[in-house]
Amino acid sequence: MSTNKVYIFDTTLRDGEQVPGCQLNTSEKIEVARALEELGVDIIEAGFPISSPGDFNSVVEISKAVSNPTICALTRAVKKDIEVAGEALKYAKRGRIHTGIGTSPYHIKFKLKTTEEEIIRRAVEAVKYARRFVDDVEFYAEDAGRSENEFLARVTEAVIGAGATVVNIPDTTGYCLPQMFGEKIKYLINNVSNMDKAILATHCHNDLGMATANSISGIINGARQAEVTINGIGERAGNTSLEEVVMTLKSHKDLGLETSIDTTKIMGVSKLVSSLMSMPVQANKAIVGRNAFAHSSGIHQDGVIKHRENYEIIDPKDVGVNESEIILTARSGRAALKHRLELLGYNPGDKLDDIYSNFLDLADKKKEINDTDLRVLMGDTSVSSKTIKLDYLNIATGTAEETMATIRLNIGGELFTETVSGNGPVDAAFNGIKKVVKKELHLEEFFVQAVTRGSNDVGKVHVQVKDKDSVYSGFASNTNIVIASVEACLEAISKMM
Ligand code: KIV
Ligand code: ZN
Repeated sequence: MSTNKVYIFDTTLRDGEQVPGCQLNTSEKIEVARALEELGVDIIEAGFPISSPGDFNSVVEISKAVSNPTICALTRAVKKDIEVAGEALKYAKRGRIHTGIGTSPYHIKFKLKTTEEEIIRRAVEAVKYARRFVDDVEFYAEDAGRSENEFLARVTEAVIGAGATVVNIPDTTGYCLPQMFGEKIKYLINNVSNMDKAILATHCHNDLGMATANSISGIINGARQAEVTINGIGERAGNTSLEEVVMTLKSHKDLGLETSIDTTKIMGVSKLVSSLMSMPVQANKAIVGRNAFAHSSGIHQDGVIKHRENYEIIDPKDVGVNESEIILTARSGRAALKHRLELLGYNPGDKLDDIYSNFLDLADKKKEINDTDLRVLMGDTSVSSKTIKLDYLNIATGTAEETMATIRLNIGGELFTETVSGNGPVDAAFNGIKKVVKKELHLEEFFVQAVTRGSNDVGKVHVQVKDKDSVYSGFASNTNIVIASVEACLEAISKMM
């Protein structure tokens, strides 16, 4: 079966959630599942019901909350697992059981201590049993990446014969090379006699950093389902990331393949997953990293200003990012400075060289130059009345449930003090800021990075603060992480005001 639609199977809530520290409660999982539905994924793998009552409950509740995507539950090739998955899926409009067993020499010999014939027997039995509960059964050949292609073909043919609708070929250990993985898929397409009765899925892990390349190679060679997670989260080095596969297919129209993803929702879902799972997205992560559409070298800035596509293959709006960012630093050229000044309503004209020289002096001291700095450079004295500075901060925190913060802000020379509570030092300080500025604000992103590993080193904080219309970012660094957090928030709020 080979059409031009590639089904997107999202396993953020199962394989992604296996990451230590990323566990979500049921209501958070429902929030993610709803966002995945809005995004347009075809299948949501909602959990592994036999593994815990929490997982069971999440599959039940997600089945009730979401109606467009198929809801999938994972099992081993074990009858009890399959029965429990069938029970968990009973509210799903369309339910799928995902069952399987190891097929590589490692798994057969050292993990399962059995024979190839026994693997095929257990695989067939599991698929037939799962079909008693649902019409849609996916079989996974665990560690297919290191399995012999001939044996994999025998297993695939047997499970399709037993009623599997999808056969998943996971590169469980992230071992394959793109060409090798593509050839594996092609081998199955060409050597499994009943291949027209099911589709093949890719499920690639990222241990060698090739998960997306392997998935795309599998798809080019005939797989029609990609198993992915948001931001590529997952065991060890993670899974293939949804955004990378989807945007690769969208960017390479020549492949003639499409997905049903509304790509403009990608950034929103990425942020939701990152914040609920407390898993920051690395700044240079493809598509959703903070720097994915930020240009900082003079040559690139000049090129992007002349014509965005000179240095960008994706329109940021296509993934839900407002616009590309030109980061003004000491490496920026006159073109970038002029461009930003014009956006702010200035016409530097023949004064550009002088302004540029002042700009470079400031950039050497400050690293990143923001719009407020530029206004000051242009002699705008009203700016200082809009700038908010931290004048005093005292936080009382400990094991008590509430943390108290007394914060004094200097707004244009006038001092404002508030004492407020919060569930931790940053929350308390942020509540204090909100009270002073009298605005409904929401901390969209809060990302702390230690510059080195010692406890007395500088912490860098990036934040994004949202009011009802827009999102503003701020950055600060300090040896005191709470002060860095407050100053980063104030930078964002100053931009807003
Ligand atoms: O990586 C893997 O093999 C898996 C299977 C359970 C599908 O996650
Ligand atoms: Zn996996």
